[in-house]
Amino acid sequence: MKTSAYEIIKKKRDGQTLTEYEIKWFIDSLVSGEVKDYQMSALLMAIFLNGLDVFETAALTDAMLNSGTTLNFNDEKVIDKHSTGGVGDKTSFILAPIAAACGVKVPMIAGRGLGHTGGTVDKIEAIPGFNVSIDTNSFKKKLDELGLVLIGQTKDIAPADRIIYGLRDVTATVESIPLITASIMSKKLAEGTSGIVMDIKVGSGAFMKTLADGRKLAKSIQNTATRFGRNIFTIISDMSQPLGTHIGNSLELIECFEILKGNIENDLSELSLELAGAMVYLAGISKTHAKGKQMAKSALTSGKALEKFKEMIISQGGDSAVIDNYDIMPLAKCRYDVVAKNSGFITTIDCERVGMMIVDLGGGRRNVGDKLDYGVGMIIDKKVGDKIKKGDVIVTFFYNQNQESLVGALADEFGTKVIKVGQGKPKQSRPLIIETMEKWSK
Ligand code: URA
Repeated sequence: MKTSAYEIIKKKRDGQTLTEYEIKWFIDSLVSGEVKDYQMSALLMAIFLNGLDVFETAALTDAMLNSGTTLNFNDEKVIDKHSTGGVGDKTSFILAPIAAACGVKVPMIAGRGLGHTGGTVDKIEAIPGFNVSIDTNSFKKKLDELGLVLIGQTKDIAPADRIIYGLRDVTATVESIPLITASIMSKKLAEGTSGIVMDIKVGSGAFMKTLADGRKLAKSIQNTATRFGRNIFTIISDMSQPLGTHIGNSLELIECFEILKGNIENDLSELSLELAGAMVYLAGISKTHAKGKQMAKSALTSGKALEKFKEMIISQGGDSAVIDNYDIMPLAKCRYDVVAKNSGFITTIDCERVGMMIVDLGGGRRNVGDKLDYGVGMIIDKKVGDKIKKGDVIVTFFYNQNQESLVGALADEFGTKVIKVGQGKPKQSRPLIIETMEKWSK
């Protein structure tokens, strides 16, 4: 069979369905260098505009998955979680040690920040010495011994996704349901887990802005997971305001340690327990999700989860003294409190802009390879619907001395545009956990 990049692009441009062979040929040729970036970009735009059906989506996932190494643990207790990304989204640091303390084996291959959303790997690197680049053999060994290991994307896993993701980022083709499905699932399937817990975020701080699109993405991901023999539990959760209170790399870890110590209960701990409970359930350790949540809660309150986190830090070369001494992590020296100009109720928070403010401060990247400032960030301990009085602190910025004028501008923007204050209590806002669904492959 003979085909060409030109013919395949033309076919999708004209709204036709691609064959499995054509998709595989295109992806293999991209990785080998025969298909050029500009041809892949053209195909991405054609897919963005004309979509892919379920068979094409599965074929794309398969081709991307098999573009590199695949692991296989053959163990029903090996479960991972993936989030579509958000602002202040740091559930992994809470749910992973909780699930591991309950007997789940959690092989986390996590990502770096993307656009306005932060990345798990960037955050954990705020702990001095923590090593996220571990070879496959010690990755498996640590998973066996500890039940918990956290690494970054390796060069060998789904290399096609790395090329395609970079192109999507600069060709305005990120927000495509089949492309997101294939991107996420190719990486998750390559990890060799028996089940996946998905946290699909919807709202102003998420890639899927509406619930309708979130549901479509959930369906597409669930279908792909079961087609490849994986069980999947999906939670659609709200991302119309930051999750938790701390945003920025070191600050987010501090909030997680405080939750694991039992000092804070908030939306972040609630969602983390929901997700950890789903991992326990998918691993077959509990009979129901509700029971899984109870087990997760006990692992948290008994301190076992915190102990697991500590063991993981030690096993990956990090300084575990950080748990009792947050000063070991970089934290910006200057603080700027923004106070409310009027009394009233918080009606909205522009969550995407909050994420971009962290990037403005240097806590996220504008370009691949940018060096991060782990110490900058924000604490926002107000939520939509909260009553505030004129003069109340609505956000505290953490910044460096040379950022005075930048922070002045951000503070002004925050008080006038990012948080909106109205006179009446807003109608009941969307719940944090909007929907849950599960699909078993057998
Ligand atoms: N996360 C991914 O890994 N890929 C996407 O396309 C979106 C979120």
